[in-house]
Amino acid sequence: MLTKTSTAGGAVIDEPVRSEAAAKAPAKPALDTQSKTAPGQARELTIYLDGKFVPEAEAKVSVFDHGLLYGDGIFEGIRFYNGRVFRLEEHLERLWDSARSICLEIPIGRGEMTEALLETIRRNDLREGYIRLIVTRGVGNLGLNPTQCKRPSIIIIATTIALYSKEVCEKGLTVVTCATRRTGAAALNPAVKSLNYLNNVMARIEANLAGADEALMLNDAGNVAECTADNVFIIKRGQIFTPPISAGALRGITRSVAFDIAAELGIKITETDLTRHDVFVADECFLTGTAAEVIPVVKADGRTIGTGQPGSITLRMISRFREMTRETGTPIFA
Ligand SMILES: Cc1ncc(COP(=O)(O)O)c(C=O)c1O
Repeated sequence: MLTKTSTAGGAVIDEPVRSEAAAKAPAKPALDTQSKTAPGQARELTIYLDGKFVPEAEAKVSVFDHGLLYGDGIFEGIRFYNGRVFRLEEHLERLWDSARSICLEIPIGRGEMTEALLETIRRNDLREGYIRLIVTRGVGNLGLNPTQCKRPSIIIIATTIALYSKEVCEKGLTVVTCATRRTGAAALNPAVKSLNYLNNVMARIEANLAGADEALMLNDAGNVAECTADNVFIIKRGQIFTPPISAGALRGITRSVAFDIAAELGIKITETDLTRHDVFVADECFLTGTAAEVIPVVKADGRTIGTGQPGSITLRMISRFREMTRETGTPIFA
């Protein structure tokens, strides 16, 4: 697990986890910072695993699961706010699309999946947090042929998450362009949210080595694709621009929320190829992602973007996004 040193605003965590101590001692229960448990006291999560709810210490998959052996599987990261799951239908739609694309048959229907998700949240007594929904190809043999895998496994983890400190969220991120290119659609299509994230992990390592908060990933043509787990937007002369899906961007759910908000605010938004130059000379820049939410970028490859402060359109976008997350979504406890 990659973690950054803690700041005045709190620990900057790169994954939906847990304390650093918990990461070093994986057999121990996770620290759930938003639970009713006393601060510092560990609380064991309840995990959904193939139809059963089990304590996290017992939530184990086979070493012959092709998800582990080959990254053969799919996932979604989903947030819930104020007792409601945000954009659940869209996440399930994308999960089923990913499954279809890699010829993986999800062994339960959408209704059952929805209930399993909601029940996992309830069993962990959470109102705000993050869900990691994983479907692996299942247990096979050491050969990579997926026909060996008779039944996909479903794992649902509901926990809390903090990607960046409050200070970084308010002041904005720094990004660097990385040498690792986003995989092209002909290799491993970035539209499939697969368990094979090594491309993104390699980019993330580059950002870490450069001391930046995120990595800007280009496609083989040298145009901006996205960041390691976020979509990229720039603002120039009052208009918003973002790379098209064909540039290698995931069809982000938060990206589509940004389109909805732009329409509401009457701000023109255009999908177009962007180069690093466009980012350098932008008035504002922000990223979107379920985990990162909507977050300003104030520096790219050492160049200050705009004034070096989060811009006014970005701030309006963030404010409306927060409202929507609190007011809309699938009720968990209804
Ligand atoms: C590679 C990549 N790009 C973009 C995103 C943002 O997508 P979303 O807003 O659906 O979380 C994610 C996260 O899911 C991602 O993994």
